[in-house]
Amino acid sequence: MEKGIPMYSPLGHSPTRAPASNTSRSINSLKTIVKALALGLPLYALYGWHTNQALLPSSLSRRGADVNATSQCEQTPLLQPSRNDTLDKAFSFLSTEKFLNESVSRLSGAVRVKTVSYDDLGAVGEDPRWDVFYDFASYLEKSYPLIHSKLQLEKINTHGLLYTWEGSDKNLKPTLFMAHQDVVPVPEDTVPAWTHPPWAGEYDGTYIWGRGATDCKHQMLAAMEAVETLLASGWEPKRTVLLSFGFDEECSGREGAGHLSKFIEDRYGKDSVAVIIDEGGGFEKTWGSLFAKPAAAEKGAADVYITVRMPGGHSSIPSDHTSIGVMSELITAIEAQQYRTHLEDENPYMSQLQCGAAHSPDFPPKLRELLDRRQHATTKTSKANTKPDQLALEAARVGGPPTKYVMQTSQAVDVIAGGAKANSLPERVQVTINHRINIGETPQTVHDRLTEIAAPIAKKHNLTLHAFEPQDESSSDTTPLEPANSIILTQTPHIIDVAPISPADPKSPSGAHTPFSVLAGTTRALYGEDVIVTPSIMTANTDTRYYWNLTRHIFRWGPGYDEQDGPGLGNIHTVNERVSVKKHVHAVRWFYMFLRNMDELEVEVEV
Ligand SMILES: *[C@@H]1O[C@H](CO)[C@@H](O)[C@H](O)[C@H]1NC(C)=O
Ligand SMILES: *[C@@H]1O[C@H](CO)[C@@H](O)[C@H](O)[C@H]1NC(C)=O
Ligand SMILES: *[C@@H]1O[C@H](CO)[C@@H](O)[C@H](O)[C@H]1NC(C)=O
Ligand SMILES: *[C@@H]1O[C@H](CO)[C@@H](O)[C@H](O)[C@H]1NC(C)=O
Ligand SMILES: *[C@@H]1O[C@H](CO)[C@@H](O)[C@H](O)[C@H]1NC(C)=O
Ligand SMILES: [Zn+2]
Repeated sequence: MEKGIPMYSPLGHSPTRAPASNTSRSINSLKTIVKALALGLPLYALYGWHTNQALLPSSLSRRGADVNATSQCEQTPLLQPSRNDTLDKAFSFLSTEKFLNESVSRLSGAVRVKTVSYDDLGAVGEDPRWDVFYDFASYLEKSYPLIHSKLQLEKINTHGLLYTWEGSDKNLKPTLFMAHQDVVPVPEDTVPAWTHPPWAGEYDGTYIWGRGATDCKHQMLAAMEAVETLLASGWEPKRTVLLSFGFDEECSGREGAGHLSKFIEDRYGKDSVAVIIDEGGGFEKTWGSLFAKPAAAEKGAADVYITVRMPGGHSSIPSDHTSIGVMSELITAIEAQQYRTHLEDENPYMSQLQCGAAHSPDFPPKLRELLDRRQHATTKTSKANTKPDQLALEAARVGGPPTKYVMQTSQAVDVIAGGAKANSLPERVQVTINHRINIGETPQTVHDRLTEIAAPIAKKHNLTLHAFEPQDESSSDTTPLEPANSIILTQTPHIIDVAPISPADPKSPSGAHTPFSVLAGTTRALYGEDVIVTPSIMTANTDTRYYWNLTRHIFRWGPGYDEQDGPGLGNIHTVNERVSVKKHVHAVRWFYMFLRNMDELEVEVEV
């Protein structure tokens, strides 16, 4: 999982193509609504509690004063695959110590292959640092013999791995599991801080320790364990199963996911996949409940450079403000004002609030009151509505920064460079600001605000403001000359729109299952019906950003949970990364059940 840690921020790469707008999807959604109205279906059957209401005319998007909180968080019943002695026996085997030992040894071995990706990697096939992925592919081949003898494996852009398990019914869209093979580096000076060495894959009876143990080899191998087990038991899918593993997620995903998604789109077409599961959301204990939180959305991102150019000279005769002083003024002004905390109706966090209100014993009364007020409000909360969003503000106050930033565009000045010598005036200073964009806003929102802040400061210091001027593509190999006496705002190649929101309805208009309901019902069948499944939103980005064309049903979801370990990310991207082996085995069981459920149930895949 890319966490936006500045050290690994994917600067200096060529542009990530921002996928096409949502317009055609909105049109499709509207078509569905029109169809549903023609059939006399109630609208909430279509959109349920997951509130795609921004798409609906406001008079249709409300059910008025009779809002029933429980029905706003309808939970899918437990979905157990049908009984079958062979398959049930294979499933039980996944709970044995024998299987645990075997899967520990395979995951430990995977951690020992140092599949590090670096920000400054050269071309695939040229930079020898990519070669370790050959070793990793051989390791997988040795560890999963059935997958490698019975499935088709295609290597995409050398190290991307695409496994195809052909289903017998070509009318069913494939299920696709993603993960990435690469891991972030371990800085040399942090090695002594590790309890167990970062590349040994040691097992202490509870955890496997090491870089990549959680992010993302656990997810990848859990899916492979499930497929290998199904192959061993003679199961044959009706619905094609795809495994698609990139190899540079931690430094942009362009070479891996970028190529894999194109290849899959060329083969199967747009909207051709039933559901995608990739790393992401997990479990959370809050308000006295255990929530399972597959992410149905992902915030956008924009890294922006601010450059101040001012005359140099001897520092014995300075101007009142050097370029560093002016930059300080800019940063102070930027930090003096936060983006607004704002919860759009379609933000999946709204679903969690509704689920909390419906099911959680300790749901805060004040939040409940504000939520009720919002649901009964006659005026729709809209992007144009600039009144303070009391519900969002209260939720952020209660939940702190992790909650605030699912409802607010973040800004962080992460890099600064400027000045050369104690007796020379600094001619150039530059900062990088990282933004994660809230639902309801766009990279343009960020550009507009920075321009607004910079304009008066430029004027005050008699500098020219160059705000997000289009760059001359033709002269791309020579750095364009920066104008003197200026403040320059530049969008870096790191720009990502807010992801389309995956539908999270408990059932389809016709009463069939949806990809989300199969996910939810599988999860509750595995962990019990006290688990409340609610869609969530990620503040970081995953490789799924390259897969938007393939399906609307993308869930970033780590299905493993270990009650003793509790929720948590297992120290990803830092010292002592580790994964609970119980969690890993549970994830295998989840993938196993999910594949069987996707095959047996009638699943309607809304386009
Ligand atoms: C609210 O909805 C739930 C689920 O649809 C239903 O079981 C319950 O009876 C409803 N409660 C009221 C007061 O209508
Ligand atoms: C599993 O491994 C442990 C040592 O890690 C060993 O004591 C135990 O006997 C093994 N169990 C099985 C069933 O192989
Ligand atoms: C159980 O599943 C296996 C593997 O898919 C299959 O070969 C077998 O026919 C099934 N048994 C029954 C009784 O359906
Ligand atoms: C502002 O800058 C321009 C050229 O960059 C210069 O001609 C002008 O004299 C400056 N004005 C002041 C008040 O310094
Ligand atoms: C998605 O489809 C659009 C339109 O065909 C295309 O321009 C774009 O490159 C595709 N996106 C990705 C990530 O492949
Ligand atoms: Zn990851």
